Amino acid sequence: MNQGIWLQDLPVDLEPERLPHHVAVIMDGNGRWAQHRNLPRIMGHRKGVETLKELLRCCRDWGLKALTAYAFSSENWGRPLEEVNFLMTLFEKILRQELQEMIAEDIQIRFVGNLSSLPLSLQAEIKHSMEMTRQSQGIKFTVATNYGGRQEIVHACKAIATQIQKGLLKPEEISEGLFEKYLYTVGISHPDLLIRTSGEMRISNFLLWQIAYSEIYVTETLWPDFNRHEFHQALYAYQKRERRFGKI
Ligand code: FPP
Repeated sequence: MNQGIWLQDLPVDLEPERLPHHVAVIMDGNGRWAQHRNLPRIMGHRKGVETLKELLRCCRDWGLKALTAYAFSSENWGRPLEEVNFLMTLFEKILRQELQEMIAEDIQIRFVGNLSSLPLSLQAEIKHSMEMTRQSQGIKFTVATNYGGRQEIVHACKAIATQIQKGLLKPEEISEGLFEKYLYTVGISHPDLLIRTSGEMRISNFLLWQIAYSEIYVTETLWPDFNRHEFHQALYAYQKRERRFGKI
């Protein structure tokens, strides 16, 4: 396997036609990365943003079409207030700082989750960034913020029930295809590959519906240390898998 770290071009051992279309990432290990260096946890999140930016560039360079990142779960509100506030401010700052570059890079950014409980100034920045990149034709970058897979499913059920109550939908019309239209991720393909860093073997309420047939790749590497070489390894492992979707 090619061991180069800053590979601009697709590594020679990867087959372009068998790359995942959509990669989702659970960016775990920021806090531990910082603690190992005697730094405050927030420094791990700062470094984590750099990792995410590098991964986006890598997806662009290697021709992937969609990246979804789990930035803040519905359960993350239970963290110390200082850390939660830091993260909310960080998200807002990144959006302000990176918007022009995202437009220039033709990135289409979208946020999924219960966005209405986020700070109003962040909501405004989210709305603005989504509107400004709506026409972009490049990579589809989705950020799950205040996101929970169970909450998303309940939210969809309530919306469907309301349609039925209003007489606009019949129960027998409910199908998998229809259900998907009520998910936050409507219009986004299901992830082909789900990567989790820092070695935890958990899904943590991420994209429960959407990852039904995703390949899962877990690495011990902490998120701030995840780089192109690590991504290369994940894609290499993915290409060695045989996706059967329940068939033989
Ligand atoms: C998990 O590590 C990481 C997070 C909860 C935050 C991740 C967010 C970013 C990297 C910023 C992305 C921002 C945008 C707007 C795209 P952890 O704190 O759970 O680490 P630990 O398990 O070591 O404690």
